[in-house]
Amino acid sequence: MKVRKYKYRLTTWMNMKIALTGTPGVGKTRVSKVLERRGYETLGLNEFIKDMGLRGDKDHNRKTFEVDTEHLKEVYHREKLDFDIVEGHLAHHLSISPTVVLRCAPSELEERMKNKGWDRDKIEENIEAEMLDAILIEALDLCEDVYEIDTTSKYPKEVASEVEDVIDGEVKKYEPGSIDWSEEFLSRQ
Ligand SMILES: Nc1ncnc2c1ncn2[C@@H]1O[C@H](COP(=O)(O)OP(=O)(O)OP(=O)(O)O)[C@@H](O)[C@H]1O
Ligand SMILES: [Mg+2]
Repeated sequence: MKVRKYKYRLTTWMNMKIALTGTPGVGKTRVSKVLERRGYETLGLNEFIKDMGLRGDKDHNRKTFEVDTEHLKEVYHREKLDFDIVEGHLAHHLSISPTVVLRCAPSELEERMKNKGWDRDKIEENIEAEMLDAILIEALDLCEDVYEIDTTSKYPKEVASEVEDVIDGEVKKYEPGSIDWSEEFLSRQ
């Protein structure tokens, strides 16, 4: 029988937490909302950072805040929060195993960010980060168990089911290394 049939609080049962990370705009929050509807408790790391006063100086050009990720990790673990899934583009700094990196083909990521109304500079910065596998590389450096899921041309509910595969231990097809945007990268030069 598949464990997934039990659905709710599955990760707590197994004493498992998942970090869901990825380039801004890749769909972490959307997927988390689907998982929440399936019974998982999720924590939005951006809200946590704001609520705990962990925002540093504002970068006015990028319209983002500096965050001391070492301090974030300390505060997060000190709080001993009881969540199944922690989502945010800094979630891989929390040393949570497994860490799942959501990926998206740069051309589609661009459309998603345009629809969100982001400005050109922010879109370009994030596309470049995605093309260079920036978050995946950081995650591999910082976390023990890292998997990546391609969200391109998938509905959020499909991506959520793939995250559930990882929860179920069906990780083989999500081992890092198969996602490669180099063709798109070269065609954009
Ligand atoms: N699988 C998907 N297919 C199509 N559009 C998607 C998908 N997932 C998310 N989107 C859309 O892409 C945009 C970004 O999604 P979302 O806000 O979930 O990204 P995020 O990774 O949480 O970004 P951030 O790091 O800025 O919080 C939203 O407009 C959302 O509706
Ligand atoms: Mg989000």
